[in-house]
Amino acid sequence: MFQDLEQLPPDAILGLIAEFNADSRTDKIDLGVGVFRTAEGVTPVLDAVKAAEQRILDSQDSKAYLGTAGNPDFNAAMQSMTFAGSVDDARLVTVQAPGGSGSLRVAASLLLKAESNAPVWVSEPTWNNHVPLLGGAGLELKPYPYYDTERHVIRTDAMLDTLRQVPKGEIVLFHACCHNPSGLDPSDDEWRAITEVLVERELLPFIDMAYQGFARGLDEDAFAIRHMAEQVPEMIVSNSCSKNFGLYRDRVGSLSVLAADAEAAARIRSQLSYIARTIYSMPPDHGAAIVATILGDEALTAQWHVELAAMRARILDMRALLHGALKETAPDHDFSHLVRATGMFCFLGLSKEQVEALKRDHGVYMVGSSRINVAGVTNDNVDYLATSIAAVL
Ligand code: LMR
Repeated sequence: MFQDLEQLPPDAILGLIAEFNADSRTDKIDLGVGVFRTAEGVTPVLDAVKAAEQRILDSQDSKAYLGTAGNPDFNAAMQSMTFAGSVDDARLVTVQAPGGSGSLRVAASLLLKAESNAPVWVSEPTWNNHVPLLGGAGLELKPYPYYDTERHVIRTDAMLDTLRQVPKGEIVLFHACCHNPSGLDPSDDEWRAITEVLVERELLPFIDMAYQGFARGLDEDAFAIRHMAEQVPEMIVSNSCSKNFGLYRDRVGSLSVLAADAEAAARIRSQLSYIARTIYSMPPDHGAAIVATILGDEALTAQWHVELAAMRARILDMRALLHGALKETAPDHDFSHLVRATGMFCFLGLSKEQVEALKRDHGVYMVGSSRINVAGVTNDNVDYLATSIAAVL
């Protein structure tokens, strides 16, 4: 049966975890997988999460099934954090999903059931896993221009020109904020222009929001979603709680679908329930219970807001720190996009060979595209990092 199965290479992002762990150099630096790190290099369990977990431990009296849509309090809280009343709740369906990836996968099945031939347009480049995840589910993917690798800016005009040519009824995937991998997002005005094209061309926005709160703030980062929701008849939003709640391995996310009316929303809900049942039956509970506990309690929510703001501030600080250090070690190179980008990622603009040399000769790990996770930068490693980058330029 399995005789002819080929050996696959490790995942382009997750494969770096094992490679980094196996490296015995003490000055090695991990700028690979997108997880937040403190100044001590730790990916912490947030205090608000710890407190919520304690409450759950003390009060949970059953682990009986909750159903295909997961925790209803979690779903209501996620819906409100995402849409904040920008649209009539009766038109919205929100279900819990196993992480942002699980949410994307359920969305893919929904799209395939609704209109199996409509392609999904994805930014060039997009998150490494969008392509195998959505493509592997059976969707056809097509690229739209997004990032100018020479000038390190968004190609807004080229993007809009391409979207203006997309046939009616096709789907366009956007990153709500902290674009992965480039870290560069459209401005609010650019989102308005994009929305105009979506409305004009009758395109379906499909928004991946994996980093709400990591760019500008919880509300600011949801601007594109709330603005579009006011204008379009239908849209899809995939949320992840991996980063903003630090619940990575607990696999918690949600999927929201905006329907044309309440009756359509009810039919979509039944379809989502069926899709979940046929893939994983029910999402895991613990992470969603934590989020529901935090968002259902004023004091815990306030505590979480403070911790989220601290993560955002540290990332911005590390962007400025690395940018400053690179100005010293590589004065002939313009790295100003490091401080224009937000969230954890941006490109260094290095070749595959330079990325390989950084790993081999300096123990500095990043994705092959030269995407770095700036949360891996610290006061202690920044000089070594900037010197190492300069050495391969
Ligand atoms: C990343 O892009 O590094 C994160 O979203 C982790 C992942 O699953 O790829």
